[in-house]
Amino acid sequence: MKNQVIVITGAAGGIGSSCAYALKDYKLIVSDSVKEAVDTTVQKLLNDGFYAVGFPCDVTDRVSVNALKEFAKHQGEFKGIVHTAGVSGTVGNPRKVFNINLAGTEIVINAFYDIVQKGSVMILLGSMMGHTIEANAAYDSALRNPGKDNSFSVIEPFVKNDADLMYNFTKRGVLLLCKDNAMRFGRKGARIVTVSPGVILTPMAKKALEEHPDKMKEMEAVTPLGRSGYPEDIGNLVKFLISGSADFITGTDITIDGGVLSQILK
Ligand SMILES: NC(=O)c1ccc[n+]([C@@H]2O[C@H](COP(=O)([O-])OP(=O)(O)OC[C@H]3O[C@@H](n4cnc5c(N)ncnc54)[C@H](O)[C@@H]3O)[C@@H](O)[C@H]2O)c1
Repeated sequence: MKNQVIVITGAAGGIGSSCAYALKDYKLIVSDSVKEAVDTTVQKLLNDGFYAVGFPCDVTDRVSVNALKEFAKHQGEFKGIVHTAGVSGTVGNPRKVFNINLAGTEIVINAFYDIVQKGSVMILLGSMMGHTIEANAAYDSALRNPGKDNSFSVIEPFVKNDADLMYNFTKRGVLLLCKDNAMRFGRKGARIVTVSPGVILTPMAKKALEEHPDKMKEMEAVTPLGRSGYPEDIGNLVKFLISGSADFITGTDITIDGGVLSQILK
């Protein structure tokens, strides 16, 4: 299968690299915003016997994402993309969270839609926190159209400069973008799915853990499986979703959270 290409954005990150390690059968295009991080990740994968090439890309930059798509197009049969690039609210800037997590996701979807074909899969990283934001006509249209000039300012009043809350809104937006794109992907014989993790012990989550230790402990206490997730939990799910065993799964979200959301939203 090594002529089949999988692109991974955010591949230098905790979840991105665990996805890479779960996908040994494919030719991996390792992408992240910083070239050095891409080079280090590629080298590590090569040392571990993977087939990987690197291509740095900032997902908020349309030109950069199109360049990544063009690169991918010439690497072999396009099997799919796992879009994990993202930031948490710890960056402290709602605009940055919006641009990377939501506007960037729309850019990635539209660029790669061009090259999806029968059997291709696009996997977008959502978050269980996206499910904590209720449907509301006052902001859902803006979440569905993050590239529009006024979308940020429509959402901003609901977030009130809270970057953590903006994170939750952006992840609801990712869930909506997946549903909205399922039909046009399906017409090409391609699938699009969101994966919504709970707390996964990656560098991003560890940073949040340091900032909100009590919140995180509370979370584990109400998690049916009594633990946080490991990056490998996500890699295993992504491997399944890319495989033929998941051929009838599209336009939907798979929550992978040890069951905690079922308790929070009871
Ligand atoms: N870790 C968790 O607990 C958790 C929970 C729910 C959802 N998620 C989601 O999973 C995804 C991956 O998270 P993670 O925990 O691996 O985080 P991480 O910080 O380890 O990795 C994220 C990667 O994205 C890259 N990135 C950031 N901005 C970028 C940009 N503009 N262009 C390209 N790359 C960029 C970073 O350089 C980093 O390597 C994110 O979308 C996150 O919201 C994570």
